[in-house]
Amino acid sequence: MNVKKIVEKMTLKEKLQQLTQLNAGFLDKNAGTEATGPLSSMGLTSQDLNGIGSVLNFQGPDNVKAIQRQHLEDDTNKIPMLFMMDVIHGCRTIYPVPIGLSASFDPQLVKDCCAMAAKEAAAEGINVTFAPMADLVRDARWGRVMESTGEDPYLNCLYSRAAVEGFQGDLKKGKVAACVKHYAAYGAAEAGRDYNTVDMSERTLREYYLPAYKAAVDAGVEMVMTSFNVLDGVPAAANKKLVDGILRKEWKFGGVVISDYNSFREMITHGVAENEHDAACLAVNAGNDIEMMSATYIGHIESLIKEGKVSLKQIDKAVERVLKLKKKMGMFSDPYLDADKALADSLDCCKEHRDLARKAAEKCAVLLKNDGVLPFSTEVKKVAVIGPFANTGEILGNWRCYGKHEQTVTVLAGVKNLLGGAEVVYAEGVSGELTASDESGIAAAVKAAKGADAVILTLGEPQGDSGEGNSKLDLELPAVQYKLLDEVLKANKNTAVLLFSGRPLAIKRLSETAPAILEVWQPGTEGGSAAANLLFGKAVPSGKLTMSFPAKTGQCPVYYNHYNTGRPRMNDDVRVAYTSSYIDGPNKPLYPFGYGLSYTAFGYSDLKLSSSVLQSGGTVTASVKVKNKGSVAGEETVQLYIRDLFGSAVRPVKELKGFKKVMLAAGEEKEVSFEINEDMLAFYGPDLVKKAEKGDFKVFIGGDSECADSVSFRLV
Ligand code: GLC
Repeated sequence: MNVKKIVEKMTLKEKLQQLTQLNAGFLDKNAGTEATGPLSSMGLTSQDLNGIGSVLNFQGPDNVKAIQRQHLEDDTNKIPMLFMMDVIHGCRTIYPVPIGLSASFDPQLVKDCCAMAAKEAAAEGINVTFAPMADLVRDARWGRVMESTGEDPYLNCLYSRAAVEGFQGDLKKGKVAACVKHYAAYGAAEAGRDYNTVDMSERTLREYYLPAYKAAVDAGVEMVMTSFNVLDGVPAAANKKLVDGILRKEWKFGGVVISDYNSFREMITHGVAENEHDAACLAVNAGNDIEMMSATYIGHIESLIKEGKVSLKQIDKAVERVLKLKKKMGMFSDPYLDADKALADSLDCCKEHRDLARKAAEKCAVLLKNDGVLPFSTEVKKVAVIGPFANTGEILGNWRCYGKHEQTVTVLAGVKNLLGGAEVVYAEGVSGELTASDESGIAAAVKAAKGADAVILTLGEPQGDSGEGNSKLDLELPAVQYKLLDEVLKANKNTAVLLFSGRPLAIKRLSETAPAILEVWQPGTEGGSAAANLLFGKAVPSGKLTMSFPAKTGQCPVYYNHYNTGRPRMNDDVRVAYTSSYIDGPNKPLYPFGYGLSYTAFGYSDLKLSSSVLQSGGTVTASVKVKNKGSVAGEETVQLYIRDLFGSAVRPVKELKGFKKVMLAAGEEKEVSFEINEDMLAFYGPDLVKKAEKGDFKVFIGGDSECADSVSFRLV
C-alpha cells in the first residue's frame, strides 16, 4: 500500500486526528484509565474520536482488540491505531529499575531484559514503548533518576543503544517500536524538580546530554519524545532549533516525534504561547508529529493553514511519518499483530522470564559496605527478616506497567525458599512511608532479632517515592528507620541492611552504623530470591554505581566527571578557606560513580602503556593486572578513565572511556587491556567542534572512579 496515496485521500480533519493521541479511556468505556479531564476540556467531541491515530494507557490484549476493531469499523480510512505504553523495565515480569539495572555495567543484559519486555508487551497488544529514557542525570533529588542509567554519557550511550536493539530489533514478531525520551536534557531540571527549567550552554548540551539520544537515533529508534522542560528559555516541544534543527536536520532523524503528556497546552502555562492556537503553531513548526493528550492540532491547524502560519505539506509529512511506522510494523495487513491473551498469559512471569529478572536483580545489586557479616552462612538455624520492605511485593518500582505485586517474590519468601529448614522470623518494625513516626513495632523487631544467627534489615524508600512527580528535598532515611536500625543492632550485631531505593540516597549515618549495606534498588518480580541468593552467597555482588551517592543532599548535583575549578579542594577532612568546598561537609560523594564491593577483593597492579606517545590516527594500549585476593570467585568491572590535562575548554578530572567485566577465581590474576585512540579523546570545544586536541593525558584503570594510580601519554 502506498502511504502517500492514503494521505491524499484523507481530509485535513482526518490528518489531524491521525496526529492526535488520547488515553484509551476516551475510546473505551471500561479501560479504567483516568483521563485528564473530560473530552470537553480538550475541546473534543465524540465525533473527533473516530480517526484518532494512537492511544496510550489501556488494559490488555482483549481491550486493545476491542478498541482497534471498533475503530476500524468507524474510521473512514481504515487506518489502524498505534497502542503505546510505558514499558520501562518490564511489562508483566518486572526487572530492576533502570538506575539499578545500569549498575550491572552489562549492556547485553539490558538488551536481553528489554527483549523480554518487548515480547510480553507485543502479546499485550502494545506497539510502541515510551523507552528508553536516556536523560543524563546528576541530581538524585529528581525522582526520575529511577528511569535513567546515570551520570555518564559514554555508559548512557551504550545502554540507550542496547535498549533500542532489545525493544525494537527488527520490529518483527515479539518486538515493539522504541521511543527515546525525554528530548532533551530533562535530567538537568533545576533543583531536581520535575517539569522545572533546564538552562545550559550548547557545549554542555552536546558534550553530556545529547549523546544518548543520538545513540538511540543511530540505533534506528522509531520515535523520539520531546520533553516537558524548557531549554534555552523555550519549552523543548516548541524548540525549533532542538527538534527540527538538531534532531531532524543534523541527525537526519526520519521517524516520528511525539509530545509528552499535554505538553503542547503547557506552552501556555510556560508563557511562550498565548493560547492553544499559538501552541499548535509552535509545536508543528518545531517539528512535532503526534500530540499526546491534548487537541491543539485538531482545534487550530486548519485556521493556522488559512493564516499561512503552517503549511498543509508539513501536516502531510507528519502524517506520512506516522503511517510509515504503521506500515513498517505490518499493521495495515494485520492491525492486531501479536495481541493475544493466551500468549500474554503464557509469558507472564514464566520461568524463563523470572530467571532473567532474577539474574538482572543479582547482577545490579551493589554492595556498598561489608564489615564481614556477609555472606551469611546457609547453615544458619534462625534468621530474622525485618523492616518495611521485608514482606511486601511492592518492590517493583513506580513504572511497573502491568506488573502485579502478588507475583513478586518477597525478601521473606526468598529467604524461606532458600533456607528450607531454618527458622525464619519476620517483623515489620516500622512503616517505610516517608512520614512514618510510629515506633511501636520496634519492640517486636528487636525480639525477632534477638538470638537470630543472621538479621536481614530492609530499609530505604517505598517504590512510590521515586519516578515522575517524586522529587525530594532530603535524601536521608527517615528518623524512624534509624531508630529501628539502632535498636536491632543493639539486639544483634550480625545484621545486614538491604537497601531499597529508586535513586541514590544520602545515607551517611547508615554507612557509619550498619555492618553491611546491599543496595538492591527496586529489584522487581524476583527481588526477594535475588536478595536471598546474594545475602547467603549463592550469588556474589558485582554491581557498580552509575550515579554518585551524595554524603549530604546539599551536595546535589554531585558527579564524578566534574571540572577541577581554579581552587579545587584537596582534602575533604579539613576546612580550607577560599577553595571550592563546604564548611559543613565533604565535597566527595559518600559512594562514587563506578563503586561497588564484592565478597572477595580485587588488587590492581602493573598499570602501563604500550607507548607514552599517541600518534594522531594511531593507538596506545593501556593494561593492568587484576588479582582476586580473596577466597571466593568474583566478577570485577575493570574501568578505564582518561583525563585530558589541558584543552580549549576545561576538561573533567576523569572520564569513563571503557570497561571490561572479568570473572576471577580465588587467587587468580588476569591482565586486562584497553585500546586508546584519538576518537576517544574528542570533545566539544568553545567553537562547538568535536575533536581531540594534542597534549598530555592521564590514564587510570581501577574498580571505581576514585582510582588514583595513573600513567601518562601525549597526543601528538
Ligand atoms: C508522562 C512522562 C513520560 C511518559 C508519558 C506517557 O508524563 O513524562 O515519560 O512516557 O507521560 O505516560
